[in-house]
Amino acid sequence: MSAAQEVAERVSSDLNPLVREGFLNPYPMYQELRALGPVVWMQSLNAWGVFRDAEVRRVITDWQSFGSKGGGGVSNFYFEKPWREPSVVFEVDPPDHTRTRTVLTRVLSPAALAKLKAGMEAEAARLVNSLLERKTFDAVADFARPFPLKVLPDAVGLPEEGRHNLLTYNQFVRKGRALNWRQNWTEADEVEGERITNWVADHCRREGLKADGFGAQIYAAADAGEISDYEAAMLVRSFLTAGVEGTINGISHTINLLMAHPEQWAIVRDDPTKVRAAFEEMLRFDSGVQIIARNTMGEMDFEGVRLGAFDKVIAFIGSANRDPSRWANPDVYDVTRNTAGHVALGTGIHGCVGQMIARMEATAVLGALVRAVDEIRPAGAPVYRTTGARGLESLPVTIRGRQGSLAQ
Ligand code: HEM
Repeated sequence: MSAAQEVAERVSSDLNPLVREGFLNPYPMYQELRALGPVVWMQSLNAWGVFRDAEVRRVITDWQSFGSKGGGGVSNFYFEKPWREPSVVFEVDPPDHTRTRTVLTRVLSPAALAKLKAGMEAEAARLVNSLLERKTFDAVADFARPFPLKVLPDAVGLPEEGRHNLLTYNQFVRKGRALNWRQNWTEADEVEGERITNWVADHCRREGLKADGFGAQIYAAADAGEISDYEAAMLVRSFLTAGVEGTINGISHTINLLMAHPEQWAIVRDDPTKVRAAFEEMLRFDSGVQIIARNTMGEMDFEGVRLGAFDKVIAFIGSANRDPSRWANPDVYDVTRNTAGHVALGTGIHGCVGQMIARMEATAVLGALVRAVDEIRPAGAPVYRTTGARGLESLPVTIRGRQGSLAQ
């Protein structure tokens, strides 16, 4: 194929799911973008986009061709200075990735997680009981946020004080992953960005961490020579970034979907063990994490299109999970569906290392709610975030407790 033909085959689009309209509802845009071809040049993102299940899967699993070093967002670290020090697990390739990932996998072993289960369930019951008294509350501010902000930093061994800073830090991480992030940075961002980076760095130091938490176990791996002290601090940071926001969005999105689909709520209400399935189908149907970013490792042909060296390639996992060539009735939220094979948690060597703890948290807190509640309905309009990522800022709800019930 001649160079001219290759260029002719490049399909471009000025659609951008990573702006206000997309954060509010990306799915109609995804449908158009999937129809354009297997790989689309995204003019406004200065990056390639893949939207179909097959290509998304290829990009996120073929780490030899599509590396992670260029950053976990649209900002391309090969050409743009990253806002923060890159992650030592999420934004690296083997062999470095293998070393750090091995430590996290061990720290998050099934046996380690099993020890957390009873504590999480007790915390979930306590939270739900306080909400049963209030009846009307914000399912984001009063339910989806406080739970992961309590149980995950507890597991890591972080002191109680100041944990709300993790939410601010997550906002900055999102902003700092955007294309040309520096151009949109205000003076106030400079000041607050520095403060929050220092806060997080201080709280990732070994001195401040409790002796029995995941953080201390990560530092034990540094003492054993498996990773450096710098990598240990950065792995603690990974828990505090990746570990908090995804779960908050997941819990609030599940409640939102169950309220919007009363027949699905009825299935879960009648059999509360189905909360796990409701959460998993939420991940497929409308997860907060919509993209996984990679960079080409050199010039390459992909689906007949010539990609340049270190080009950004964005795998729209939220679109792959709605691809009709992979899923029957993809736009239907169905808690009885077999969701095996969705890519909401990634897959391959970078697949979410925290997925089991995320499921444990969601099952504990949503399970406690469903077991105690007969009815849940909107008490106002949901408010979606319009910058940075898809997620709910506010979700006012009213609940009616089951007769005589308290969460257990
Ligand atoms: C519902 C909640 C969550 C969602 C939707 C989610 C989503 C994801 C996705 C899509 C990836 C793949 C990134 C890639 O391929 O580049 C990932 C990786 C990761 N996740 Fe999660 N995650 C969640 C919860 C958590 C939790 C609770 C933790 C920590 C306790 C965590 C820690 C990580 C880490 C460290 C990575 C990087 C793994 C690697 O690069 O090897 N995540 N997550």
